[in-house]
Amino acid sequence: FGTMIYDPGYYNTAVCKSNICYIDGEKGVLEYRGYAIEDLANNSSFLEVAYLLIYGGLPNNDQLTLWSTKIMNHTFIHENLIQLMKSFRYDAHPMGMLISSMSAMSTFYPEANPALRGADIYKNKALMNKQIFRILGKLPTIAACAYRHRIGRPYNNPINTLSFTENFLYMLDRLSETNYKPHPTLTRALDKLFIIHADHELNCSTATMRQISSTLVDPYTAVAGAAGALYGPLHGGANEAVLRMLEHIGSVENIPSFLEQVKQKKQRLMGFGHRVYKSYDPRAKILKDVTNEVFDLLGRNPLMEIAIELERLALTDKYFVDRQLYPNVDFYSGIIYKTMGFPTDMFPVLFSIPRAAGWLAHWVESVSDPDLRIFRPRQVYLGKRGLKYVPLSQRS
Ligand code: CMC
Repeated sequence: FGTMIYDPGYYNTAVCKSNICYIDGEKGVLEYRGYAIEDLANNSSFLEVAYLLIYGGLPNNDQLTLWSTKIMNHTFIHENLIQLMKSFRYDAHPMGMLISSMSAMSTFYPEANPALRGADIYKNKALMNKQIFRILGKLPTIAACAYRHRIGRPYNNPINTLSFTENFLYMLDRLSETNYKPHPTLTRALDKLFIIHADHELNCSTATMRQISSTLVDPYTAVAGAAGALYGPLHGGANEAVLRMLEHIGSVENIPSFLEQVKQKKQRLMGFGHRVYKSYDPRAKILKDVTNEVFDLLGRNPLMEIAIELERLALTDKYFVDRQLYPNVDFYSGIIYKTMGFPTDMFPVLFSIPRAAGWLAHWVESVSDPDLRIFRPRQVYLGKRGLKYVPLSQRS
């Protein structure tokens, strides 16, 4: 291939230098900006982690207050966007609604469009920040509207005085407009889930974010594209696929025959395996604890017995041991979401809300990187050449 390297799926290609997220796949280590994920999950909040990822350091008190206020002041969505969302089919997948709404947002905020304004917007920090506030603020509202649409209920307006996570739970499930407080265990559990999903270096959707951003398009279009990548069952759609797999297995007795089918490559063990982790995903460990906290409050989900036995059998089976396949973040997250009452098709949406913080951190880093060039991989051409055009009337 001359000087080119053939690397399908980018197994061995670094496309950027980054200071955001560190993974040691052999040791099962994950750090955001140098802080261990366990430390952040136990002690921080999602909005603080979003600030850390995007701006590079933990905020002081004033910075955190300002940041939270800015985001919560951008939670309302334009009335026309609401109309657009209302025009979807009654049973539209909420992820399709999220992706389309995010993409439509580029038309509501042309100030962020370099095609209209010129690439100089990437030198204007205030303008870039405004898009960040909007995307992080409006995503939970779009997600909640998609959920309300799916269950045939009116959409709820946000309440900006609640915390980020409380407000999201409120919009999904408004019980009363006054004194609304979701159970603190559930708010904390969801916040922890948001923290551990916030970034994961160059996973497929973040690589997509960087790839699209390398064209200098507006961030709404890039986030919509990244969310499209995340929707796939091999990526963020895996949490939905895990739940459907556990329901399909149905009982502990059926696990061995299911694993046989996986080994014969007729099925894939969803929620297992990872491009980078060749040991236990540290996020899956955190999630096991969160699962128990949620079960203590809401009761044990019977799917958990299938998940635990499936994990036990897979981790002692030569097929999975030889290939270093361990549970990943999606293996337990779906059971938590289900126990909390989320419908299965909301799971990738719940992944997208926090991952937007990571996408935006990579957006800021990439558009200010002096090494940035448009992503343009090469191919190995195997097709025909030099054919002569045959008129339609002469083709057999
Ligand atoms: N079930 C069964 N076999 C598997 C699995 C699995 N989940 N994952 C990998 N393998 C096998 C694969 O068939 C291959 O075997 P062989 O060498 O015999 O051909 C070997 O392990 C190496 O797999 P690969 O497909 O080359 O690995 P990859 O790095 O290209 O894929 C992955 C990584 C995450 C797409 C894959 O492990 C997978 O499909 N997992 C299930 C879906 C899933 O849980 N995705 C969530 C990933 S973590 C969070 C996220 O990104 O959203």
